[in-house]
Amino acid sequence: MIKKAKIEDIKAIQKLINSFASKDLMLSRSLNELYENLRDYWIAEEYGKVIGCAALHISWDDLAEIKSVAVAKNKQGKGIGRKLISVCLTEAKELGAKRIFVLTYKPEYFKKFGFKRVKNSQLPHKIWAECINCCKFPNCKEIALLKTL
Ligand SMILES: CC(C)(COP(=O)(O)OP(=O)(O)OC[C@H]1O[C@@H](n2cnc3c(N)ncnc32)[C@H](O)[C@@H]1OP(=O)(O)O)[C@@H](O)C(=O)NCCC(=O)NCCS
Repeated sequence: MIKKAKIEDIKAIQKLINSFASKDLMLSRSLNELYENLRDYWIAEEYGKVIGCAALHISWDDLAEIKSVAVAKNKQGKGIGRKLISVCLTEAKELGAKRIFVLTYKPEYFKKFGFKRVKNSQLPHKIWAECINCCKFPNCKEIALLKTL
């Protein structure tokens, strides 16, 4: 079941994200960051357990971002990631976003959903402000992709 995250889900979300982040597959998230952005997060739940997550973050007047897409290793390949991305795209449209981007190490995955690779410079300066606090800065290998909604 795909649903909005609640406070009680945050520790499980962090565990899921950081299990992949520790293998350098995605960026880690602190508890502080997750609590503050709780309302961005969707989860996939099975028998009361968090098995997937994705976040939709509004960046600018016409621009949204999909962040932190993760599906538990033993639940991958069953369309859960697709459902999480789909719900984020729908929410972005409902909120009035015209474009949506993602910064990822898995560009091929997001191309499946109509995202196209863009130069980092095509995204507004504002989104790079967050990067300064990242432990990967300035050697980030994330790739920017953009989709028109
Ligand atoms: C990437 C990830 C979110 C995919 O989730 P998933 O639930 O396994 O994906 P789905 O089953 O919904 O796959 C949807 C489609 O994408 C394809 N796909 C899955 N992983 C892919 C990848 N790494 N590259 C390209 N395509 C991929 C699937 O084959 C499927 O294609 P189909 O519809 O033509 O059959 C998951 O593997 C994961 O959590 N990985 C670790 C964290 C990570 O890398 N996150 C990436 C974002 S930063």
